[in-house]
Amino acid sequence: MKHIRTPHRAAALGICALAATVLACSTNRQPVADVAATAPVAEPIAVDGAVYDFAATVPLTPSEPEEHGSLHNVFRLSENIVSGSEPHDADALRQLKEWGIRTIISVDGSEPMAEEAAALGMRYVHVPIQYKGITSDEKMRIAKTFRELEGPFYVHCFHGKHRGPAAAAVGRVVLDGIGRDRAVAEMRQYCGTAKSYEGLYQAIALQDLPDSAASAAYEFGFDPVSRPKGIVGTMVHISRAHDHLVDLAARDFAADPLHPDVDALNEAKKLLTNFRSSMMLEDIKTGPSDQVEWFHSSISDSERLVAALEKFRAGNQAAKDEAKAAFASVKKTCATCHDSYRN
Ligand code: HEC
Repeated sequence: MKHIRTPHRAAALGICALAATVLACSTNRQPVADVAATAPVAEPIAVDGAVYDFAATVPLTPSEPEEHGSLHNVFRLSENIVSGSEPHDADALRQLKEWGIRTIISVDGSEPMAEEAAALGMRYVHVPIQYKGITSDEKMRIAKTFRELEGPFYVHCFHGKHRGPAAAAVGRVVLDGIGRDRAVAEMRQYCGTAKSYEGLYQAIALQDLPDSAASAAYEFGFDPVSRPKGIVGTMVHISRAHDHLVDLAARDFAADPLHPDVDALNEAKKLLTNFRSSMMLEDIKTGPSDQVEWFHSSISDSERLVAALEKFRAGNQAAKDEAKAAFASVKKTCATCHDSYRN
């Protein structure tokens, strides 16, 4: 049995096996329920300049991420809360079960493996959030889940680096009762939340988080699956296919042994299909003309990418560079459009 390090509780490691739940763990900590009922929510902090910069100044014991099969960037932030990447196969879910996880919170856009998790006795709660920040509704849902469902919690987005750690930070504040300074420091120094997601940092450092009376009064059915609609829904799929293709392009489009089921041609087709679906959305079709134009070029670049990968698959070696060039144009347009139309 491997251990996950609890960065700030290294002393507990020898006696607290990874699979042990909070109560079974020989520490003198209060049981979770008492902590949750009484923990006051730390006040927002005053920060001059970027919270990202501030987060580097808070002293934390250094800690490296744990990698467990297909689970990456795993940090056991406390006995209650583990942050990491998306569990996307049965082995990963079994691993979480083995660690004693009772509730999994996904803040990614894609549909979680809720039924498979339920079959193992774990509950899934799906609260997709965006990279630009966490809305007050989303904060309510996340806080309510931490306070009212059973831990320990595994909190994830896709890579477990940006949105997931921000949601875990909500739990660190409302469930574990830590200060906002420490919560943002963990996002940056442990999980690696990037500078470009300042909105996530601000949500944790500067904005209100609901107290327990507010989250108790808030109605939320702890939905195991929430399907984002419209442009956000298609972008979630586009960004997944894009992320896979970035990895695959670096491997000359050969399958990654770690993800043998992810195929470059298939991902390119998903990219194309989802760009086409975006263009079918009413508010996109009738939207600003430069945006429409960028969607058109994304579609034609994705078509070029699919065609080149088909040729490459058929043995045409030169098509590899064609595919790389087409994918480079696709990527360029993501950034161009986002600069104007995504906040
Ligand atoms: C022509 C415009 C356009 C292009 C091209 C485009 N996007 Fe987007 N994207 C948007 C808009 C608009 C949003 C914001 C939706 C919102 O927040 O309401 C968005 C949002 C996103 C999001 C956030 C989704 C979420 O969960 O909130 C991701 C991730 C994303 N895009 C990835 C990509 C990637 C990767 C590419 C290129 C492969 C790409 N986009 C190309 C317009 C575009």
